[in-house]
Amino acid sequence: MAENTKGRSPFYPGQPIPVDLFTGRIGPLKRIMTRGVAQVAAGKPVTMFVQGEYGIGKSSLANYARAIAESKEGSNLHGVYVTLGGASSLEGIGSAILEGFIHSGRYIPKRAQTIREWLEKYIAAKTLFDIDVDMKAVKRDALRIATPDGLLAFLKESIQRLEETGVKGLFLILDEINGITTNPQFAHFIKGIVDTNAVSRPPVPLLLMLCGVEERRSEMISIHPPVGRIFDVIEVEPMGDEEMRDFFTRAFGAVKIAVDPDAMDEMTFYSGGLPKIMHEIGDAAYYIDQDNRIDRADARSAIEQAAEEVGRKYVEPEVYDALKSKAYHSILSKLARLNKTEFTRDELAAVLTFDETKKLDNFLRRLKTLNVIRQGEVAGEYAFNIRMYQVYITLKTIHDEAPSAPRQNRSRS
Ligand SMILES: Nc1ncnc2c1ncn2[C@@H]1O[C@H](COP(=O)(O)OP(=O)(O)O)[C@@H](O)[C@H]1O
Ligand SMILES: [Mg+2]
Repeated sequence: MAENTKGRSPFYPGQPIPVDLFTGRIGPLKRIMTRGVAQVAAGKPVTMFVQGEYGIGKSSLANYARAIAESKEGSNLHGVYVTLGGASSLEGIGSAILEGFIHSGRYIPKRAQTIREWLEKYIAAKTLFDIDVDMKAVKRDALRIATPDGLLAFLKESIQRLEETGVKGLFLILDEINGITTNPQFAHFIKGIVDTNAVSRPPVPLLLMLCGVEERRSEMISIHPPVGRIFDVIEVEPMGDEEMRDFFTRAFGAVKIAVDPDAMDEMTFYSGGLPKIMHEIGDAAYYIDQDNRIDRADARSAIEQAAEEVGRKYVEPEVYDALKSKAYHSILSKLARLNKTEFTRDELAAVLTFDETKKLDNFLRRLKTLNVIRQGEVAGEYAFNIRMYQVYITLKTIHDEAPSAPRQNRSRS
C-alpha cells in the first residue's frame, strides 16, 4: 500500500549517479579537472585511467566530470560516453564509439542538433526525445573509426563541426572495458591513438578516459608494455564515513525523509565505503519507511534486505553457497566483526572457539579456492580480493548478535 504512494526513489543501485546527487570524490575530481580537462581545453591531449573496484563509482565519477567539463562554466569540452561492454573486436569498438557520438551532446540542445545533422546517415528514426541508430550503417563505417588515423580524423571533424557551439576539445570516455582488454588489438589501438595524436600538428585536444579495474590496465600493459606510460591513473577509493553520511543526508533529504543518528550509523557502517551498497541499503530503507523518518529498525531491515539483493546480484553462485554453509557461519560472522580488508590467521583464531579453530584451515583454504581471499606476502596473512564480498559477509551477519554499528567515525583498514 505504502509503496504505491511512494514518489521517485533517490537511489540508483544499478546506474551511475545523476549529477545532482553525486557526492564527495573531491580529490580525484580535482585531479581530473586540473590535469585533464583544463589541459585539454588549453590544447594538450591527456589520457587517463579511472581505476577501482566494481561498484566503487568509476562510471559515476567519469560521468560527473564530463558534465562539468561540458558546461560553459567548465571548459566547454564535448563529452562522449562510450560503453565497450558489448565489444570484443575492433569493429565492436568502432561501432560503440560511433553510437556514443550519435547520442552525445544531449544536455546541450545546440550541440545535439549539430551532431544529429552531421551523423544523419547513421540515424534510422528520430523522436523528440530519442534516436534510433541505424546499426547497419554504423557497422559499415566501424572499422574505419577503429584505427588511430581514422578515429583522429573523425574526432577532428567533430570539433570543427561543433566549433560554433563553443567546443574547445573532446572528453571521450571508454567505459566497461572488461571484455575488450584481452584482445591485443585494443592495447595497440589505444597506444596508437595517443602516439599518433602526440605527433600531429596541432594535436586533437582530446581527454581520453578509460574506466576499469586495475587488472584490466595490467592486462593491457602486459600485452603492450609501452601502454604503461600513457595513463595518468585516477584511483577511486572506498568512500569515507563523511562522504557516505553526506550522501545519505542528501538523498533522503531530497525526498524529505529524516534519518535518525543511530540509523545513519548503521547504514554507513554496513555500506563499507562501497557506493553500490549505499544505494542498495538506501533504496531498501526508502521503501520500508512508513513515516518519513528512518529509524534504527528501518535501517536494520534495510540492511538485511540489501544483503539478500547483493548476494543475489553480485556474489558468484559458488561463493554464495559456500558463504551460506552452516559449518562456516560462525567463523564468518567473527571474521566479519574483525572488519578488516586484511587480516592474519592468528587474529581470527584469537576470537574463535576450540571447535571453530579446528575448522579454520579448511575454511581459509575454501575461501582461497573461491577467490574470496588471497594469501598475503607473509604466511598467515590474508586479504579480501573483492571488497564487495567482504561487505557482503558483514551484511549477512547483522543478525548474529552483532554489536550495533559504532557511533564514532570509524576508520576502516
Ligand atoms: N559519488 C557518488 N555519489 C553517490 N552515489 C554514487 C557515487 N558514485 C557511485 N555511486 C553509486 O554507486 C553505484 C556504483 O557506481 P558506478 O559508478 O556504477 O561504479 P563502477 O563504475 O565503479 O562500477 C551506483 O549505484 C551509483 O549510482
Ligand atoms: Mg562502471
